[in-house]
Amino acid sequence: MDVAWIYQDFPEIARAEIETLAGKAKREDDLVFVDASLKNLEKRLAFTKATYKILFSCKEEDLESTCKKHPWKITKDFRVSTSKSPVDAAKIGHFIKTASGKQVNLHTPTNHFMVFGRDRLYVCELHGVNDSQFEKRRGKHRPAPHPTTMHPKLARALVNLTGIKKGKFTDPMCGSGGLLIESALIGFSSEGIDLDSRLLAKAKQNLQYFGVTATLTKGDSTQLKKKLKHTALDLPYGRGTTKKDLEKTYQAMIAMLGRNLTGTAVIMYPHWADVPTLVKKAGLSVRYTLEAYSHRLLTRKIVVCYA
Ligand SMILES: C[S@@+](CC[C@H](N)C(=O)[O-])C[C@H]1O[C@@H](n2cnc3c(N)ncnc32)[C@H](O)[C@@H]1O
Repeated sequence: MDVAWIYQDFPEIARAEIETLAGKAKREDDLVFVDASLKNLEKRLAFTKATYKILFSCKEEDLESTCKKHPWKITKDFRVSTSKSPVDAAKIGHFIKTASGKQVNLHTPTNHFMVFGRDRLYVCELHGVNDSQFEKRRGKHRPAPHPTTMHPKLARALVNLTGIKKGKFTDPMCGSGGLLIESALIGFSSEGIDLDSRLLAKAKQNLQYFGVTATLTKGDSTQLKKKLKHTALDLPYGRGTTKKDLEKTYQAMIAMLGRNLTGTAVIMYPHWADVPTLVKKAGLSVRYTLEAYSHRLLTRKIVVCYA
C-alpha cells in the first residue's frame, strides 16, 4: 500500500484527484492511502506534498522490535523524518541503523524514510516530492495576467480530475489559459476555445512564456459539435453580468456537454448556481461534487461528471 501526504487546503479535492488517477483512496487527516503504487504521481498531483511506499505499520511500543525484524534495503545511507510522530526521528534512525548496519546521512541520503504518527505509526519510504512550482505560475507572475484565472494548483487538480492518461485535453472556455498551461505542462495535447480574442491572445502569450503550446480557437463553445473526452471548464461569473444571463450560459454550455461528452467533464462554478441539476438534465452522471472556498462571498464548487 502507498500513501500520499497531502496539503490541507482542500483535502477532499486532494483525495479525489488521487483516487481518479490511482484507484480507490481513503483519507485519514493529511494522509491518503491507496492500494496501488503512487510512484511518480507526485509529479502531476496538485494537492500532494510527497508520495511514499508504506513499509510497515505498528504500534508505538512495537516500533523498535518491528524495525529490528524489517528487511531494510538501503543502498548506502539513510535519513528519517517524521510528521506528528510521538517518537522522534533520531530515535527511529538509531533503530534502523542498528537493524541495517547502515549510516545516517541527513543531507544526501540514498534512502529517505518517513514516519507518520497516527493511532498506529506508518513507517514509509519516500517515492518523491512534489516540486511542480505552482506559485511561479500564479496569474501575477504571467506576462499576460487576467483576474478570472484560478490558482495553478486548482487548475492542475481540475485537469487531473478528468482522469486523462492519454489523448487531448479541452478547455472550452479557456480565457487566459490557466487550465491549458497545467495540462500542457504534464504532457497532454491541449486545446482551448474562447469567445474573446483578447483573452486568446493572452493565453498564447502565457503558454509561450512557460514553454508549452495549445491549439487556440475563437468561438462560442455552446455551439460545439465535436466529441470531447477530457474537458475541464471554469464557468464565468464576472461582475457586470446578471445571474440570469450567467445561468443561460451555464445551461447552454452543459447542454453542449450532454451532446458531445464521451468521457469526463470537470466543471467549476459559483456556489449559488445549481449546476448538478443541469448536469443531470443533460443526461450526465455525477462522480464527485467538491468545494474550493475562495473568500467570504464566494465558494467555488466543482462537479465531476461523465457520459
Ligand atoms: C472564468 S474564465 C476561464 C478561465 C480559464 N479557464 C483559465 O484557466 O484561466 C471564463 C471564460 O469563458 C469565456 N466564455 C464565456 N462564454 C463563452 C462561450 N459561450 N464560449 C466560449 N467561451 C466563453 C469568457 O470569455 C472567459 O474567458
